[in-house]
Amino acid sequence: MKTSSVTRRDFVRLGAGAAIAGQSAAAAAQVTALEPPPLSTQALPDGRKIRFAMVGTGIRGCDLLRAARQVPTGVCVGAADLYSTRLQAGKEAYGADFPITGDYRTLLDRKDVDAVIVAVADHSHRRVVLDACAAGKDVYCEKPMSHNVADGQAMVQAVTAGKRIFQAGSQRVSNIVYKKAAEIYASGRLGEVRYIEGHSDRNSPSGAWVYPIPPDASAQTIDWETFLGDAPRRAFDPVRFFRWRCFQDYGEGVAGDLFVHLLSGIQCVTGINAIPSRAYSTGSLTHFTDGRDFPDLLATLYDYPGVTVNLHCNQNNEAGEPIVFYGSEGTMTISGNSLSVAPQDTSPRPEGYSLNGWTAAQKQQYMEEWHAAHPAPPPKLAKVENFAAPAGYNDTADHLANFFEAVVTRKHVVEDEVFGHHAAVACHMANHSYFHRAVAQWDADGKTIKG
Ligand SMILES: NC(=O)c1ccc[n+]([C@@H]2O[C@H](COP(=O)([O-])OP(=O)(O)OC[C@H]3O[C@@H](n4cnc5c(N)ncnc54)[C@H](O)[C@@H]3O)[C@@H](O)[C@H]2O)c1
Repeated sequence: MKTSSVTRRDFVRLGAGAAIAGQSAAAAAQVTALEPPPLSTQALPDGRKIRFAMVGTGIRGCDLLRAARQVPTGVCVGAADLYSTRLQAGKEAYGADFPITGDYRTLLDRKDVDAVIVAVADHSHRRVVLDACAAGKDVYCEKPMSHNVADGQAMVQAVTAGKRIFQAGSQRVSNIVYKKAAEIYASGRLGEVRYIEGHSDRNSPSGAWVYPIPPDASAQTIDWETFLGDAPRRAFDPVRFFRWRCFQDYGEGVAGDLFVHLLSGIQCVTGINAIPSRAYSTGSLTHFTDGRDFPDLLATLYDYPGVTVNLHCNQNNEAGEPIVFYGSEGTMTISGNSLSVAPQDTSPRPEGYSLNGWTAAQKQQYMEEWHAAHPAPPPKLAKVENFAAPAGYNDTADHLANFFEAVVTRKHVVEDEVFGHHAAVACHMANHSYFHRAVAQWDADGKTIKG
Protein backbone atom coordinates (compact mmCIF):
# COMPACT_ATOMS: atom_id res chain seq x y z
CA MET A 1 0.00 0.00 0.00
CA LYS A 2 1.22 3.50 -0.75
CA THR A 3 1.91 5.30 2.46
CA SER A 4 2.28 8.97 3.15
CA SER A 5 5.02 10.38 5.32
CA VAL A 6 2.33 12.53 6.98
CA THR A 7 0.80 10.73 9.98
CA ARG A 8 -2.88 11.10 10.83
CA ARG A 9 -2.04 13.34 13.77
CA ASP A 10 0.10 15.56 11.55
CA PHE A 11 -2.60 15.52 8.90
CA VAL A 12 -5.21 16.62 11.40
CA ARG A 13 -2.91 19.27 12.85
CA LEU A 14 -2.15 20.61 9.37
CA GLY A 15 -5.86 20.56 8.62
CA ALA A 16 -6.61 22.57 11.74
CA GLY A 17 -4.02 25.14 10.72
CA ALA A 18 -5.46 25.37 7.26
CA ALA A 19 -8.96 25.83 8.60
CA ILE A 20 -7.89 28.62 10.89
CA ALA A 21 -5.78 30.29 8.19
CA GLY A 22 -8.84 30.33 5.95
CA GLN A 23 -10.90 32.34 8.41
CA SER A 24 -10.58 35.88 9.57
CA ALA A 25 -8.51 36.18 12.74
CA ALA A 26 -11.53 37.45 14.64
CA ALA A 27 -13.77 34.59 13.58
CA ALA A 28 -11.04 31.99 14.20
CA ALA A 29 -10.58 33.27 17.75
CA GLN A 30 -14.18 32.37 18.54
CA VAL A 31 -14.00 28.77 17.34
CA THR A 32 -12.58 26.10 19.61
CA ALA A 33 -10.83 23.48 17.51
CA LEU A 34 -11.73 19.96 18.59
CA GLU A 35 -8.78 17.59 18.76
CA PRO A 36 -9.43 14.10 17.36
CA PRO A 37 -8.20 11.42 19.74
CA PRO A 38 -5.33 9.32 18.42
CA LEU A 39 -6.60 6.28 16.54
CA SER A 40 -6.39 3.04 18.48
CA THR A 41 -3.27 1.01 17.82
CA GLN A 42 -4.61 -2.03 19.64
CA ALA A 43 -3.49 -5.08 17.65
CA LEU A 44 -4.41 -8.72 18.17
CA PRO A 45 -2.37 -10.60 20.84
CA ASP A 46 0.00 -11.93 18.18
CA GLY A 47 0.64 -8.34 17.08
CA ARG A 48 -1.09 -8.64 13.75
CA LYS A 49 -3.74 -6.35 12.25
CA ILE A 50 -7.41 -7.20 11.77
CA ARG A 51 -7.77 -8.77 8.33
CA PHE A 52 -10.96 -7.52 6.76
CA ALA A 53 -12.70 -8.19 3.46
CA MET A 54 -14.84 -5.68 1.64
CA VAL A 55 -18.22 -6.73 0.26
CA GLY A 56 -19.29 -4.08 -2.24
CA THR A 57 -16.70 -1.72 -3.69
CA GLY A 58 -19.06 0.90 -5.12
CA ILE A 59 -19.27 4.53 -4.04
CA ARG A 60 -19.24 3.85 -0.31
CA GLY A 61 -17.05 0.77 -0.45
CA CYS A 62 -14.32 2.83 -2.12
CA ASP A 63 -14.75 5.62 0.45
CA LEU A 64 -14.40 3.08 3.24
CA LEU A 65 -11.25 1.68 1.66
CA ARG A 66 -9.81 5.20 1.37
CA ALA A 67 -10.65 5.84 5.04
CA ALA A 68 -9.19 2.47 6.05
CA ARG A 69 -5.80 3.65 4.78
CA GLN A 70 -5.73 6.01 7.77
CA VAL A 71 -6.47 3.25 10.27
CA PRO A 72 -3.35 1.36 11.33
CA THR A 73 -5.09 -1.63 12.93
CA GLY A 74 -6.83 -3.14 9.90
CA VAL A 75 -5.70 -4.48 6.56
CA CYS A 76 -7.88 -5.32 3.57
CA VAL A 77 -7.24 -8.88 2.40
CA GLY A 78 -9.94 -9.26 -0.24
CA ALA A 79 -13.02 -7.80 -1.86
CA ALA A 80 -16.16 -8.92 -3.62
CA ASP A 81 -18.37 -7.09 -6.06
CA LEU A 82 -20.84 -7.98 -8.80
CA TYR A 83 -19.43 -5.44 -11.26
CA SER A 84 -15.82 -6.18 -12.14
CA THR A 85 -14.84 -2.55 -12.83
CA ARG A 86 -15.71 -1.68 -9.27
CA LEU A 87 -13.21 -4.19 -7.93
CA GLN A 88 -10.51 -2.32 -9.82
CA ALA A 89 -11.87 0.95 -8.36
CA GLY A 90 -11.64 -0.62 -4.91
CA LYS A 91 -7.96 -1.49 -5.38
CA GLU A 92 -7.27 2.04 -6.60
CA ALA A 93 -9.09 3.50 -3.58
CA TYR A 94 -7.06 1.36 -1.21
CA GLY A 95 -3.82 1.89 -3.11
CA ALA A 96 -2.89 -1.77 -2.86
CA ASP A 97 -3.63 -5.09 -4.46
CA PHE A 98 -5.80 -7.77 -2.86
CA PRO A 99 -7.62 -10.90 -4.08
CA ILE A 100 -10.99 -10.16 -5.70
CA THR A 101 -14.09 -12.21 -6.39
CA GLY A 102 -17.62 -11.88 -7.69
CA ASP A 103 -18.94 -14.13 -4.92
CA TYR A 104 -18.58 -12.81 -1.36
CA ARG A 105 -19.14 -16.29 0.08
CA THR A 106 -15.62 -17.28 -1.01
CA LEU A 107 -14.33 -14.51 1.29
CA LEU A 108 -16.40 -15.90 4.16
CA ASP A 109 -14.87 -19.35 3.58
CA ARG A 110 -11.38 -17.97 4.14
CA LYS A 111 -9.91 -18.67 7.59
CA ASP A 112 -7.60 -15.66 7.33
CA VAL A 113 -10.52 -13.19 7.19
CA ASP A 114 -11.46 -11.84 10.65
CA ALA A 115 -14.16 -9.39 9.64
CA VAL A 116 -16.21 -8.14 6.71
CA ILE A 117 -17.29 -4.64 5.80
CA VAL A 118 -20.63 -4.68 4.01
CA ALA A 119 -21.31 -1.85 1.57
CA VAL A 120 -23.85 -3.37 -0.80
CA ALA A 121 -27.30 -1.98 -1.65
CA ASP A 122 -29.61 -1.95 1.36
CA HIS A 123 -31.89 -4.83 0.30
CA SER A 124 -28.88 -7.17 0.40
CA HIS A 125 -27.59 -6.21 3.86
CA ARG A 126 -29.53 -8.96 5.60
CA ARG A 127 -28.32 -11.77 3.36
CA VAL A 128 -24.63 -10.78 3.56
CA VAL A 129 -24.74 -10.07 7.31
CA LEU A 130 -26.48 -13.36 8.10
CA ASP A 131 -23.99 -15.30 5.98
CA ALA A 132 -21.06 -13.46 7.60
CA CYS A 133 -22.34 -14.20 11.11
CA ALA A 134 -22.89 -17.85 10.22
CA ALA A 135 -19.26 -17.97 9.02
CA GLY A 136 -18.08 -16.55 12.36
CA LYS A 137 -16.98 -13.16 11.01
CA ASP A 138 -17.38 -9.83 12.76
CA VAL A 139 -19.30 -7.30 10.71
CA TYR A 140 -19.32 -3.60 9.90
CA CYS A 141 -22.52 -2.97 7.91
CA GLU A 142 -23.36 0.29 6.22
CA LYS A 143 -26.34 2.36 7.18
CA PRO A 144 -29.29 2.05 7.09
CA MET A 145 -28.76 -1.29 8.76
CA SER A 146 -31.93 -2.82 7.32
CA HIS A 147 -34.26 -2.63 4.33
CA ASN A 148 -37.30 -3.37 6.50
CA VAL A 149 -38.16 -4.21 10.11
CA ALA A 150 -37.99 -7.99 9.63
CA ASP A 151 -34.51 -7.77 8.07
CA GLY A 152 -33.29 -5.73 11.05
CA GLN A 153 -34.71 -8.20 13.53
CA ALA A 154 -33.09 -11.13 11.72
CA MET A 155 -29.75 -9.31 11.76
CA VAL A 156 -29.96 -8.48 15.49
CA GLN A 157 -30.76 -12.12 16.17
CA ALA A 158 -27.89 -13.44 14.04
CA VAL A 159 -25.36 -11.09 15.64
CA THR A 160 -26.55 -11.97 19.14
CA ALA A 161 -26.71 -15.71 18.54
CA GLY A 162 -23.29 -15.74 16.90
CA LYS A 163 -21.77 -13.47 19.59
CA ARG A 164 -20.37 -11.32 16.78
CA ILE A 165 -19.03 -7.78 16.99
CA PHE A 166 -21.29 -5.62 14.82
CA GLN A 167 -20.87 -1.97 13.94
CA ALA A 168 -23.62 -0.15 12.01
CA GLY A 169 -22.07 2.29 9.58
CA SER A 170 -23.41 5.71 10.56
CA GLN A 171 -20.04 7.34 11.06
CA ARG A 172 -21.45 10.44 12.81
CA VAL A 173 -21.73 8.30 15.92
CA SER A 174 -17.92 8.35 16.08
CA ASN A 175 -17.59 12.01 15.04
CA ILE A 176 -15.80 14.26 17.55
CA VAL A 177 -18.35 17.03 16.95
CA TYR A 178 -21.20 14.71 17.93
CA LYS A 179 -19.23 13.51 20.95
CA LYS A 180 -18.78 17.13 22.07
CA ALA A 181 -22.50 17.76 21.47
CA ALA A 182 -23.36 14.67 23.53
CA GLU A 183 -21.17 15.95 26.37
CA ILE A 184 -22.92 19.35 26.31
CA TYR A 185 -26.35 17.70 26.11
CA ALA A 186 -25.60 15.38 29.05
CA SER A 187 -24.26 18.28 31.14
CA GLY A 188 -27.77 19.77 31.26
CA ARG A 189 -26.51 23.11 29.93
CA LEU A 190 -29.29 23.24 27.35
CA GLY A 191 -31.94 22.88 30.08
CA GLU A 192 -34.99 20.85 29.08
CA VAL A 193 -34.82 19.81 25.42
CA ARG A 194 -38.27 18.88 24.17
CA TYR A 195 -37.83 19.61 20.46
CA ILE A 196 -35.16 18.68 17.94
CA GLU A 197 -35.23 19.67 14.32
CA GLY A 198 -33.04 18.41 11.50
CA HIS A 199 -32.97 18.42 7.77
CA SER A 200 -30.91 17.18 4.87
CA ASP A 201 -31.61 19.33 1.84
CA ARG A 202 -29.75 19.23 -1.46
CA ASN A 203 -30.96 20.11 -4.92
CA SER A 204 -28.47 18.66 -7.39
CA PRO A 205 -29.21 15.59 -9.53
CA SER A 206 -26.32 13.88 -7.70
CA GLY A 207 -27.99 14.73 -4.38
CA ALA A 208 -31.10 12.98 -5.73
CA TRP A 209 -29.01 9.95 -6.81
CA VAL A 210 -29.26 10.58 -10.56
CA TYR A 211 -25.83 9.03 -10.92
CA PRO A 212 -24.26 8.62 -14.37
CA ILE A 213 -24.17 5.10 -15.82
CA PRO A 214 -20.56 4.00 -16.60
CA PRO A 215 -20.03 3.23 -20.31
CA ASP A 216 -19.07 -0.42 -19.73
CA ALA A 217 -22.18 -1.23 -17.67
CA SER A 218 -23.98 -4.20 -19.21
CA ALA A 219 -25.48 -7.57 -18.39
CA GLN A 220 -22.04 -9.00 -19.28
CA THR A 221 -20.10 -6.87 -16.77
CA ILE A 222 -22.71 -6.89 -13.98
CA ASP A 223 -24.13 -9.96 -12.22
CA TRP A 224 -27.70 -8.62 -12.27
CA GLU A 225 -29.41 -11.78 -10.98
CA THR A 226 -27.28 -11.81 -7.82
CA PHE A 227 -27.84 -8.07 -7.37
CA LEU A 228 -31.63 -8.67 -7.34
CA GLY A 229 -31.26 -11.17 -4.50
CA ASP A 230 -34.69 -11.45 -2.87
CA ALA A 231 -36.10 -8.49 -4.86
CA PRO A 232 -38.67 -9.10 -7.62
CA ARG A 233 -37.20 -10.48 -10.87
CA ARG A 234 -36.92 -8.07 -13.77
CA ALA A 235 -34.77 -7.64 -16.86
CA PHE A 236 -31.32 -6.03 -16.53
CA ASP A 237 -31.79 -2.33 -15.86
CA PRO A 238 -28.67 -0.21 -15.30
CA VAL A 239 -30.78 2.64 -13.91
CA ARG A 240 -31.99 0.39 -11.14
CA PHE A 241 -28.50 -1.00 -10.52
CA PHE A 242 -26.74 2.37 -10.21
CA ARG A 243 -29.64 4.43 -8.82
CA TRP A 244 -31.06 1.74 -6.54
CA ARG A 245 -31.86 4.28 -3.78
CA CYS A 246 -34.74 5.58 -5.94
CA PHE A 247 -36.61 2.26 -5.82
CA GLN A 248 -38.48 0.56 -3.00
CA ASP A 249 -37.26 -2.87 -4.10
CA TYR A 250 -33.69 -2.01 -3.05
CA GLY A 251 -33.60 1.18 -0.96
CA GLU A 252 -35.68 3.36 1.34
CA GLY A 253 -35.49 6.73 -0.45
CA VAL A 254 -34.56 9.84 1.48
CA ALA A 255 -35.52 8.23 4.79
CA GLY A 256 -33.05 5.35 4.56
CA ASP A 257 -30.38 7.38 2.84
CA LEU A 258 -30.51 10.66 4.76
CA PHE A 259 -32.90 10.58 7.75
CA VAL A 260 -30.79 7.72 9.09
CA HIS A 261 -27.77 10.04 9.47
CA LEU A 262 -29.88 12.63 11.28
CA LEU A 263 -31.51 10.00 13.50
CA SER A 264 -28.24 8.26 14.36
CA GLY A 265 -26.75 11.65 15.21
CA ILE A 266 -29.73 12.46 17.44
CA GLN A 267 -29.54 9.04 19.15
CA CYS A 268 -25.83 9.63 19.73
CA VAL A 269 -26.23 13.13 21.19
CA THR A 270 -29.32 12.50 23.34
CA GLY A 271 -28.50 8.97 24.41
CA ILE A 272 -32.02 7.96 23.36
CA ASN A 273 -31.57 4.45 22.01
CA ALA A 274 -35.18 3.64 21.23
CA ILE A 275 -37.71 3.33 18.45
CA PRO A 276 -40.09 6.32 18.32
CA SER A 277 -43.64 5.51 19.41
CA ARG A 278 -45.19 7.40 16.48
CA ALA A 279 -44.20 8.97 13.16
CA TYR A 280 -46.27 11.11 10.84
CA SER A 281 -44.99 11.92 7.35
CA THR A 282 -46.11 14.03 4.48
CA GLY A 283 -44.34 14.99 1.26
CA SER A 284 -44.45 14.75 -2.50
CA LEU A 285 -42.63 13.78 -5.67
CA THR A 286 -42.53 16.82 -7.92
CA HIS A 287 -38.97 17.55 -9.00
CA PHE A 288 -37.21 14.28 -9.82
CA THR A 289 -40.10 12.61 -11.66
CA ASP A 290 -37.80 10.17 -13.43
CA GLY A 291 -39.62 6.91 -12.72
CA ARG A 292 -38.53 6.60 -9.10
CA ASP A 293 -41.06 5.35 -6.58
CA PHE A 294 -40.04 7.52 -3.58
CA PRO A 295 -40.91 11.14 -2.78
CA ASP A 296 -38.26 13.83 -3.29
CA LEU A 297 -39.68 15.78 -0.36
CA LEU A 298 -40.36 14.00 2.92
CA ALA A 299 -41.21 15.68 6.22
CA THR A 300 -41.72 13.58 9.36
CA LEU A 301 -42.68 14.31 12.96
CA TYR A 302 -41.56 11.72 15.50
CA ASP A 303 -42.53 11.06 19.10
CA TYR A 304 -39.38 9.93 20.94
CA PRO A 305 -39.35 9.46 24.72
CA GLY A 306 -39.63 12.99 26.12
CA VAL A 307 -38.80 14.77 22.87
CA THR A 308 -40.48 15.61 19.57
CA VAL A 309 -38.22 15.26 16.54
CA ASN A 310 -39.01 17.05 13.30
CA LEU A 311 -37.06 16.01 10.18
CA HIS A 312 -37.27 16.76 6.51
CA CYS A 313 -35.37 16.01 3.34
CA ASN A 314 -36.03 18.25 0.37
CA GLN A 315 -34.29 17.40 -2.89
CA ASN A 316 -35.43 20.68 -4.40
CA ASN A 317 -33.55 23.12 -2.16
CA GLU A 318 -29.97 23.35 -0.97
CA ALA A 319 -30.40 24.16 2.71
CA GLY A 320 -27.72 21.81 4.04
CA GLU A 321 -28.10 19.40 6.91
CA PRO A 322 -28.17 21.01 10.34
CA ILE A 323 -29.58 19.45 13.50
CA VAL A 324 -30.88 21.90 16.11
CA PHE A 325 -31.55 20.99 19.75
CA TYR A 326 -33.92 23.55 21.28
CA GLY A 327 -33.51 23.66 25.06
CA SER A 328 -35.02 25.88 27.73
CA GLU A 329 -31.52 27.20 28.59
CA GLY A 330 -29.77 27.01 25.25
CA THR A 331 -29.96 26.13 21.57
CA MET A 332 -27.33 23.79 20.16
CA THR A 333 -26.77 23.50 16.41
CA ILE A 334 -24.67 20.91 14.64
CA SER A 335 -23.90 21.74 11.04
CA GLY A 336 -21.44 19.57 9.18
CA ASN A 337 -18.34 19.36 11.31
CA SER A 338 -19.11 22.40 13.43
CA LEU A 339 -21.16 23.01 16.53
CA SER A 340 -22.55 26.11 18.23
CA VAL A 341 -24.24 26.62 21.56
CA ALA A 342 -26.29 29.78 22.04
CA PRO A 343 -27.69 30.53 25.49
CA GLN A 344 -31.35 31.43 25.93
CA ASP A 345 -32.03 34.67 27.78
CA THR A 346 -34.12 33.47 30.73
CA SER A 347 -33.60 36.49 32.95
CA PRO A 348 -36.79 38.00 34.39
CA ARG A 349 -38.24 40.83 32.29
CA PRO A 350 -41.13 43.16 33.04
CA GLU A 351 -44.26 42.63 30.98
CA GLY A 352 -44.44 44.96 27.98
CA TYR A 353 -46.94 43.94 25.36
CA SER A 354 -50.08 43.50 27.44
CA LEU A 355 -49.47 46.83 29.22
CA ASN A 356 -50.55 48.48 25.96
CA GLY A 357 -54.08 48.11 27.28
CA TRP A 358 -53.30 49.59 30.71
CA THR A 359 -53.65 53.21 31.84
CA ALA A 360 -50.51 55.27 32.41
CA ALA A 361 -51.07 55.12 36.17
CA GLN A 362 -51.48 51.35 36.14
CA LYS A 363 -48.30 50.97 34.04
CA GLN A 364 -46.32 53.17 36.39
CA GLN A 365 -47.48 51.25 39.45
CA TYR A 366 -46.74 47.92 37.75
CA MET A 367 -43.21 48.99 36.78
CA GLU A 368 -42.43 50.35 40.24
CA GLU A 369 -43.56 47.11 41.84
CA TRP A 370 -41.67 45.00 39.28
CA HIS A 371 -38.39 46.84 39.82
CA ALA A 372 -38.82 46.63 43.59
CA ALA A 373 -39.25 42.86 43.28
CA HIS A 374 -36.23 42.54 40.95
CA PRO A 375 -33.57 44.89 42.36
CA ALA A 376 -30.54 43.06 40.88
CA PRO A 377 -29.43 43.87 37.31
CA PRO A 378 -30.03 40.92 34.94
CA PRO A 379 -27.08 38.52 34.67
CA LYS A 380 -24.91 38.96 31.59
CA LEU A 381 -25.83 36.51 28.86
CA ALA A 382 -23.09 33.96 28.16
CA LYS A 383 -21.41 34.17 24.77
CA VAL A 384 -22.23 31.87 21.88
CA GLU A 385 -19.68 29.05 21.86
CA ASN A 386 -18.43 27.51 18.63
CA PHE A 387 -16.51 24.29 18.11
CA ALA A 388 -15.20 22.69 14.93
CA ALA A 389 -13.41 19.59 13.80
CA PRO A 390 -10.21 20.27 11.87
CA ALA A 391 -10.41 20.47 8.10
CA GLY A 392 -9.81 17.06 6.59
CA TYR A 393 -11.21 15.30 9.65
CA ASN A 394 -12.60 11.90 8.64
CA ASP A 395 -15.15 10.39 11.00
CA THR A 396 -15.30 7.20 8.94
CA ALA A 397 -11.69 6.49 9.95
CA ASP A 398 -12.68 6.89 13.61
CA HIS A 399 -15.71 4.63 13.11
CA LEU A 400 -13.62 1.93 11.47
CA ALA A 401 -10.94 2.24 14.17
CA ASN A 402 -13.62 1.75 16.84
CA PHE A 403 -14.82 -1.38 15.03
CA PHE A 404 -11.33 -2.88 14.66
CA GLU A 405 -10.60 -2.17 18.32
CA ALA A 406 -13.77 -4.00 19.36
CA VAL A 407 -12.85 -6.95 17.15
CA VAL A 408 -9.61 -7.21 19.12
CA THR A 409 -10.91 -6.51 22.62
CA ARG A 410 -14.44 -8.01 22.17
CA LYS A 411 -15.69 -4.90 23.98
CA HIS A 412 -18.66 -2.89 22.80
CA VAL A 413 -18.64 -0.77 19.63
CA VAL A 414 -20.15 2.72 19.62
CA GLU A 415 -22.97 1.75 17.23
CA ASP A 416 -24.08 -1.80 17.75
CA GLU A 417 -26.83 -3.79 16.03
CA VAL A 418 -29.56 -2.58 18.41
CA PHE A 419 -28.65 1.08 17.92
CA GLY A 420 -28.51 0.58 14.15
CA HIS A 421 -31.81 -1.31 14.15
CA HIS A 422 -33.57 1.43 16.10
CA ALA A 423 -32.41 4.17 13.72
CA ALA A 424 -33.38 2.08 10.69
CA VAL A 425 -36.86 1.28 12.05
CA ALA A 426 -37.49 5.01 12.50
CA CYS A 427 -36.70 5.42 8.77
CA HIS A 428 -39.11 2.61 7.90
CA MET A 429 -41.80 4.28 10.04
CA ALA A 430 -41.35 7.53 8.08
CA ASN A 431 -41.91 5.70 4.79
CA HIS A 432 -44.77 3.63 6.22
CA SER A 433 -46.58 6.80 7.25
CA TYR A 434 -45.99 8.47 3.87
CA PHE A 435 -47.19 5.53 1.80
CA HIS A 436 -50.11 4.56 4.07
CA ARG A 437 -51.18 8.22 4.59
CA ALA A 438 -51.51 7.43 8.31
CA VAL A 439 -49.68 7.87 11.58
CA ALA A 440 -47.17 5.01 11.87
CA GLN A 441 -47.19 3.53 15.38
CA TRP A 442 -44.55 1.25 16.81
CA ASP A 443 -46.14 -1.84 18.33
CA ALA A 444 -43.47 -2.74 20.87
CA ASP A 445 -45.13 -6.06 21.79
CA GLY A 446 -45.66 -7.24 18.23
CA LYS A 447 -42.41 -5.56 17.13
CA THR A 448 -44.12 -4.22 14.03
CA ILE A 449 -45.23 -0.92 12.55
CA LYS A 450 -48.98 -0.37 12.69
CA GLY A 451 -51.20 2.32 11.18
N1 LIG B 1 -22.24 5.95 5.69
C1 LIG B 1 -22.39 6.73 4.64
O1 LIG B 1 -22.16 7.95 4.68
C2 LIG B 1 -22.82 6.13 3.34
C3 LIG B 1 -22.65 6.83 2.15
C4 LIG B 1 -23.05 6.22 0.98
C5 LIG B 1 -23.63 4.96 0.99
N2 LIG B 1 -23.80 4.30 2.16
C6 LIG B 1 -24.38 2.96 2.21
O2 LIG B 1 -23.43 2.06 1.64
C7 LIG B 1 -24.08 1.01 0.94
C8 LIG B 1 -23.61 1.00 -0.50
O3 LIG B 1 -23.96 2.22 -1.13
P1 LIG B 1 -23.19 2.76 -2.42
O4 LIG B 1 -23.51 4.17 -2.59
O5 LIG B 1 -21.78 2.37 -2.31
O6 LIG B 1 -23.90 1.90 -3.57
P2 LIG B 1 -23.23 1.46 -4.93
O7 LIG B 1 -24.35 0.97 -5.78
O8 LIG B 1 -22.35 2.52 -5.44
O9 LIG B 1 -22.29 0.24 -4.51
C9 LIG B 1 -22.80 -0.98 -4.05
C10 LIG B 1 -21.90 -2.07 -4.63
O10 LIG B 1 -22.30 -3.30 -4.04
C11 LIG B 1 -22.19 -4.30 -5.04
N3 LIG B 1 -23.08 -5.40 -4.67
C12 LIG B 1 -24.42 -5.40 -4.58
N4 LIG B 1 -24.85 -6.60 -4.17
C13 LIG B 1 -23.76 -7.36 -3.99
C14 LIG B 1 -23.55 -8.70 -3.59
N5 LIG B 1 -24.58 -9.50 -3.30
N6 LIG B 1 -22.28 -9.16 -3.55
C15 LIG B 1 -21.22 -8.37 -3.85
N7 LIG B 1 -21.37 -7.07 -4.23
C16 LIG B 1 -22.62 -6.61 -4.31
C17 LIG B 1 -22.61 -3.62 -6.33
O11 LIG B 1 -22.10 -4.30 -7.44
C18 LIG B 1 -22.04 -2.22 -6.14
O12 LIG B 1 -20.79 -2.08 -6.76
C19 LIG B 1 -25.57 1.30 1.10
O13 LIG B 1 -26.08 0.58 2.18
C20 LIG B 1 -25.62 2.78 1.37
O14 LIG B 1 -26.77 3.18 2.07
C21 LIG B 1 -23.39 4.88 3.33
